[in-house]
Amino acid sequence: MGHKTSVEASKDSQSYKSKPANTKKLFIKTYGCQMNVYDSERMADVLAPVGYAPVDTPDGADLVVLNTCHIREKAAEKVYSELGRIRKLKEKSEAAGRTMKVAVAGCVAQAEGEEILRRAPVVDLVLGPQSYHKLPEMIAKVSRQFEERLETDFDTEEKFDLMPRTRAVDGPTAFLTIQEGCDKFCTFCVVPYTRGAEFSRPVDQIVAEARALVAQGVREITLLGQNVNAFHGAAPKLEDDENWGLGQLISHLSKIGGLDRLRYTTSHPRDMDDELIAVHKDEPTLMPYLHLPLQAGSDRILKAMNRGHTYAEFKDLVVKIRAAKPELALSSDFIVGFPGESELDFKRTLEAVEEIGFASSFSFKYSPRPGTPGAALPGQVPEDVKSERLARLQKLLTRQQIAFNKSLIGKTLSVLVEGTSRGENELFGRAPYLQGTHFKGDTSLIGQITLVKITDAGQNSLRGELVTKEGGDG
Ligand code: 5AD
Ligand code: SF4
Repeated sequence: MGHKTSVEASKDSQSYKSKPANTKKLFIKTYGCQMNVYDSERMADVLAPVGYAPVDTPDGADLVVLNTCHIREKAAEKVYSELGRIRKLKEKSEAAGRTMKVAVAGCVAQAEGEEILRRAPVVDLVLGPQSYHKLPEMIAKVSRQFEERLETDFDTEEKFDLMPRTRAVDGPTAFLTIQEGCDKFCTFCVVPYTRGAEFSRPVDQIVAEARALVAQGVREITLLGQNVNAFHGAAPKLEDDENWGLGQLISHLSKIGGLDRLRYTTSHPRDMDDELIAVHKDEPTLMPYLHLPLQAGSDRILKAMNRGHTYAEFKDLVVKIRAAKPELALSSDFIVGFPGESELDFKRTLEAVEEIGFASSFSFKYSPRPGTPGAALPGQVPEDVKSERLARLQKLLTRQQIAFNKSLIGKTLSVLVEGTSRGENELFGRAPYLQGTHFKGDTSLIGQITLVKITDAGQNSLRGELVTKEGGDG
């Protein structure tokens, strides 16, 4: 998130607890070979952290998995007749006000595919042998259809799971949540399970809240969402469009008198549409700073992370954004040691950072979160390798961050004054690129935007001299 200090390491990656919050009944029927027995155990393993415990009968189960085998003749027919029996149990569950999800896995699932869903509507999901690690994601998606929230054991929130909430106004800056949840299912991330499906607040509500904040003296609002640029809130009444994207929302909020600065976080590269990029060019209220997580530079790892884009696509996007707003500062998130990451893959991350250049970044050691697909992947990277890669990456990111801050020396920046800082007559505020900025001035400037000429720069903050009282163009 924007207001954290940059270049952070994750806490000890094993710090989570793994006690299911809410135990659901899982019945797995295994057909065929030893391989299938092993797979069934793996399915039970990946489902345990999302609250499923094995039971011996399908009657009353919350999830029934038929792990099928194709070797015997008429295997598919056997499965269909078993599904007929399961259908009755499902109806019984529904009559009792419960839900029963039914999955078909294994070779029959592989061979029959979608045909199973057509022939046996009792089935909610079909998964081939290659997708067991995706079970938590698939179950979460089916649960959403049932409008259920998964009760998981993701109770210890790590630094990277936390998001600032809309809070009581304290000073001239505020956060405003416009969107929650996520439909992306990156394989390392708990958010789609803990926060549920992507949801955007209606524009009218957001505008009313923004106006109320401005009335309390707020001059800078950071629009928040786990996947903020996926925003698609209901358009204001009297408007033709059904939904507005983030670009349209920002243009609209920019018209609120007294609201001088807007920011948004956190974005997904796949949702950076042309309209939003154009707003960076056209709206001076939108600060020239963008947090755009890349996570990794290797296409193989990006794919395993289910990020949905390649490195080249990310780079093209950055070129487009920089063409629209050349002075924009980019920040990013990185994960080192995702399962299967080789030294070569990791080098791609270093090369990507070298090539793009970031003004600030957050970087983490991969931490397997139980119940996420990544935690069940083979090729988990040893802790010492992760630490060593993180150190190398952070060295490079820190160097870039210091270089960026030093490049501002001699420039005059607009600073929104938030309060006093240590030292006599010292004020503290934020530059357009989010660095904390210290300078001498009168406390009457608190809450104002003022111009500061930068005279010195460190890794996390700037120092400067007051130029004029009010103004600046960001
Ligand atoms: N392990 C390490 N880093 C993670 N993040 C999210 N989940 C994990 C995890 N399991 C990081 C990502 C994300 C940021 C908010 O936290 O880089 O963008
Ligand atoms: Fe998590 Fe962000 Fe990926 Fe959504 S887009 S799954 S919130 S990392």
